[in-house]
Amino acid sequence: MVSYDLLTYSGHMASLADVLNHPNHTFVHGDIADEAGVRAAFADHDIDGVIHLAAESHVDRSIVDPTGFVRTNVVGTVVLLQEAMRAWGDRDDVRFHHVSTDEVFGSLGANGLFDEGSPYQPSSPYSASKAAADHCVRAWGTTYGLPVVITNCTNNYGPYQFPEKLIPVVITRALAGEPVPVYGTGENVRDWLFVEDHCEALVLVFEQGRTGATYLIGGEAEAANDDLVKMVLDELDIARGLAPGSSRHLIRHVTDRPGHDQRYAMDISRVRSELGWKPSVTLPDGLARTVRWYLDHPDWIEACQSDDHRSFRDAWYGER
Ligand code: DAU
Repeated sequence: MVSYDLLTYSGHMASLADVLNHPNHTFVHGDIADEAGVRAAFADHDIDGVIHLAAESHVDRSIVDPTGFVRTNVVGTVVLLQEAMRAWGDRDDVRFHHVSTDEVFGSLGANGLFDEGSPYQPSSPYSASKAAADHCVRAWGTTYGLPVVITNCTNNYGPYQFPEKLIPVVITRALAGEPVPVYGTGENVRDWLFVEDHCEALVLVFEQGRTGATYLIGGEAEAANDDLVKMVLDELDIARGLAPGSSRHLIRHVTDRPGHDQRYAMDISRVRSELGWKPSVTLPDGLARTVRWYLDHPDWIEACQSDDHRSFRDAWYGER
């Protein structure tokens, strides 16, 4: 297995420590938008499948720097598609799996679920760039016969998540005694999936999914941000031997994210019926495991504190 990664502000070798010495794993430092680098990776390694997870993924950053998102998520995806075709020719024993997001479908109201036929209605530069990438992947399958498959997933959480996403923001800020920012009313709803469940679904779809198909992956664990933040803070209190509720005073409602989608939720019946996958970790269990992991990894949290991350965070939250 080859990991091809640019190690931008949100990626570092500390996150790969467990796999770096595995005999079946090779790390290649590279940019998916760099044609020569991707071509060399295909030439140097006997690659017969791509699970494409490389992306700029933080919505707030996409609002400030949309161009970088188009470069990585759209141009980078097209480069990967082109180089996969160049390397594979007409082979049909290969697979290109694009890992995408529920955000391509836009926002739901209080009821209903996205399904594989939901129209694309992205709201943010991030989700627009992922939607464009999905369209390219499908088009390369239809036009050139590249064996593709797509998964769209809800919000992930768990170990190693960079402290820019809601749950690790809450944990790291509370640990530092800093205010915990909740955008707008805090009534926005997300569906939360423990990262290891997502990984299991990805392997199943990559190995057994139908070529050309799309599979929606979700946690079936919806929570409004206000409730979720309280759950995380309470878990943190319990893990630190404090009375649950002790840290809630840190919560601050701040100016909303522009274009903030109200609700995402997925109908996962296809992946369930065709591949037998369903989420196995409940939200309370997953949050407890996540909080424990961050408490046990202060060095990893410290390794995330680059100038790039600090300056974005200070400017973004400073304005709210
Ligand atoms: O739905 C899947 C998507 O989930 C992925 O495709 C994205 O890559 C991933 O970033 C995530 O997008 P969200 O915008 O939903 O995640 P985020 O953790 O940034 O925010 C979750 C919710 O919490 C959202 O309603 C915004 C809110 N929020 C977020 C942050 C960072 C806050 O209230 N305060 C915060 O400080």
